[in-house]
Amino acid sequence: MSGSQLLSMRGISKRYLGVQALDDASLDVRQGEVMCLLGENGAGKSTLIKILTGSVTPDFGVIELAGEVIEVRSPLEAARRGISVVHQELDLVPDQTVAQNLYIGREPTRFGIVDKARRRQEAADALERVGAHFSPNARVRDLTVVQRQLTMIARALTVNARVLVMDEPSATLTAEELSHVFTVVREVASGGCSVLYISHRMEEVFEIGNRATVMRDGRTVAVHDLAAVTQDGLIAEMLGDQRTLVDRPLRDGSHTIAGGLDIKSVVIPGVLEISGITAPRGQVTGLIGLGGSGRSTLLSALFGAIKAQRDVTLDGRAYHPHSPRSAISQKVGLVPEDRKSQGLMINRSVWNNLIEPSLNQRLTMPSQRRFTTPRSVVSALGIRLSSLTQRVRELSGGNQQKVVLGKWLVDASTVLLLDEPTRGLDVGAKADLFDEVHKLADSGTCVLLASSELPEVFANCDTIHVLYEGSLAGSFHPGSNTVDQVLQAMLGVKGAQ
Ligand SMILES: Nc1ncnc2c1ncn2[C@@H]1O[C@H](COP(=O)(O)OP(=O)(O)OP(=O)(O)O)[C@@H](O)[C@H]1O
Ligand SMILES: [Mg+2]
Repeated sequence: MSGSQLLSMRGISKRYLGVQALDDASLDVRQGEVMCLLGENGAGKSTLIKILTGSVTPDFGVIELAGEVIEVRSPLEAARRGISVVHQELDLVPDQTVAQNLYIGREPTRFGIVDKARRRQEAADALERVGAHFSPNARVRDLTVVQRQLTMIARALTVNARVLVMDEPSATLTAEELSHVFTVVREVASGGCSVLYISHRMEEVFEIGNRATVMRDGRTVAVHDLAAVTQDGLIAEMLGDQRTLVDRPLRDGSHTIAGGLDIKSVVIPGVLEISGITAPRGQVTGLIGLGGSGRSTLLSALFGAIKAQRDVTLDGRAYHPHSPRSAISQKVGLVPEDRKSQGLMINRSVWNNLIEPSLNQRLTMPSQRRFTTPRSVVSALGIRLSSLTQRVRELSGGNQQKVVLGKWLVDASTVLLLDEPTRGLDVGAKADLFDEVHKLADSGTCVLLASSELPEVFANCDTIHVLYEGSLAGSFHPGSNTVDQVLQAMLGVKGAQ
């Protein structure tokens, strides 16, 4: 039930040192609709949302909610006005219980003291409404990512939110978890709450959205009814007319260079038992599987980040990294799944982050190279920044992700372990990233790509190894196998090959 105009943001501008993040942007949302916000990395989506939710102050602009001009000076004020947000960085208090988190700052009281029984009961009701099967007494730190998201949505319900904002919620969810979140989002919207949904995944946008607002370079360039546009049309608008995406031919596994990783076996008792995967230099080797199938665990074991029994060779020599540092010294790099906690020093400069792996290697890198190489990586990956000394935390989400990959390009790695490297990247940036990956493979790098997105793996790998519950369930070639065969193996159907 999409109804009357609920929220209107007009003439919104925000300038940071060296960059105009928003330039006269606008956004209109009707009651009960799911409005998607689209745009390239750095287009200004998160900044617009932060202004709505009171964590960034605009230079200019007006926000109108239900016909009333409002000023949102803090996140607390946004919450009081019925604007709730599910951030990428889920801002719950880890050491408190779910029930405590649901009522932060507004505990139900009885005779002046917190009415714990009532809080627990109301929390249990809210959790039931979002189909969550965990206790209100659970500590937030023990919850999974999807459970935390559901807690945030439940929190929005308990404050009777009028607008629920979700900034790339799907980036860290499995397909099953996301479909549950979507069911909840639809219920929330049909109850009259408007939902603002940011995602770079087009299929999702068409599945959940009613309308879409497209942003480019800080401006609002179009608003569409999603039933009346095509995916290609939207992508063209996001990219502007500066470029188009071309389909790349499938990789056929014919190009190999001697050497690479030979994974005879990697075993973590009770968790992982993999044998017989080779990742030759010159190729992109794919690892795919459902959430929990062991992709990330295998990559961490290969990076020396977790203990495992390993019989692995690199370029014919035994490879036994006992720590990430020792993996790095053998020119093995990892782009981890969770960039915020593992991949980046968020308060350091882009330059510091880019040279960090090579610094461990060579304290004496010629100073001229220190500056020129990071710069060429920035331009190869199209990282948007105002200067190399800018802190990583000031980059947009997608541009931070590019820095994580860039780290391993400054001092060319022999082996690149990529775990969901395209999370949070816009369609153009994904294409750029894969261009770079193909170039690296062609020049002799050994690339292992783990992903949960089958089309992405199919389009970019020479060989695809399917993991299922910690073991190898089959190996496939995009040239001679079908997507369906790979999918069957991912689902654990025997004899899929
Ligand atoms: N605190 C800040 N200081 C300086 N520049 C900033 C800051 N926050 C954002 N920017 C800049 O503003 C621009 C818009 O960033 P924003 O995070 O809104 O993009 P986005 O559309 O959310 O992109 P993404 O899809 O990558 O998340 C970027 O160029 C970014 O570097
Ligand atoms: Mg963003």
